[in-house]
Amino acid sequence: MTETRQLGVSADEVKNCCANVYESEWVQLLLGDSFHPGGIALTERLGKLLRLGPGKRVLDVAAGKGASAVFLATRFGCDVAGVDYSARNVADAARSADAAGVAGLVSFRQGDAERLPFEDGEYDALVCECAYCTFPDKAAAAREFHRVLRPGGMVGLSDLTRTGEAPPELRTLLAWVACLGDAHPIGEYAGHLEAAGFMQLSVEPHDEALGEMVRGVRAKLMGVELMAKLGKLTLPVGDLDQAKQMARAAATAVQQGRLGYALLIAVRG
Ligand SMILES: C[S@@+](CC[C@H](N)C(=O)[O-])C[C@H]1O[C@@H](n2cnc3c(N)ncnc32)[C@H](O)[C@@H]1O
Repeated sequence: MTETRQLGVSADEVKNCCANVYESEWVQLLLGDSFHPGGIALTERLGKLLRLGPGKRVLDVAAGKGASAVFLATRFGCDVAGVDYSARNVADAARSADAAGVAGLVSFRQGDAERLPFEDGEYDALVCECAYCTFPDKAAAAREFHRVLRPGGMVGLSDLTRTGEAPPELRTLLAWVACLGDAHPIGEYAGHLEAAGFMQLSVEPHDEALGEMVRGVRAKLMGVELMAKLGKLTLPVGDLDQAKQMARAAATAVQQGRLGYALLIAVRG
């Protein structure tokens, strides 16, 4: 585990900062409703790999504004509970399930991935998209995933992966909450899952999805810059120059193959 103290903040401050960023208008402008590379298409892939279907009980950890949970219920007919650290995201997600007509299948509550507010063995499947890399205690989160799944249940992570040292522009609090600062080699995520009791791990690389997202964010940052200069938008952490430097460093790392994106599937032993 990388120490959040290296950033001069506590683990709780990182979680709060992450929640503030993903509640913000900033993120909606830069990413839309689905806050992960590959968007809903990659969520559908995850749902297929997890063999979701009617009657399956699915937990979406760090569900953001609920786009994936609503999609999974609509597409696969499964029951989905979403949990997120941000109370505002939870409220927005519930509204979006209502608007999509799936409020009977989908519910949301506030909670911490490292201390999930659910009973042992409640779920058949668990998804966690583009959020595991932001959890300060990844081993604890993996143990929680194991605890809330029934034996034989499946976990599907999708996340940023990194090889080699992170450049200085990616060693900031902003980079951490942008899923860049504490991204690790896929083998390390797999190690946490195995140590928690998961088996039959398989990995599917989707690096191109990250490249596409980084290109999109860099293009949109130009429009956002104008709004920020007009005082219509304030970044919850860091500033616009830091965000632009971070996006440039991320684009270089993706081009050099040092940052990527992958799906990781495993079965609860
Ligand atoms: C990059 S967004 C991903 C959201 C969603 N999974 C998606 O793909 O659209 C990260 C989300 O993780 C949530 N989050 C961060 N730390 C958390 C924690 N410890 N427990 C639960 N949610 C957390 C944030 O509030 C944010 O909504």
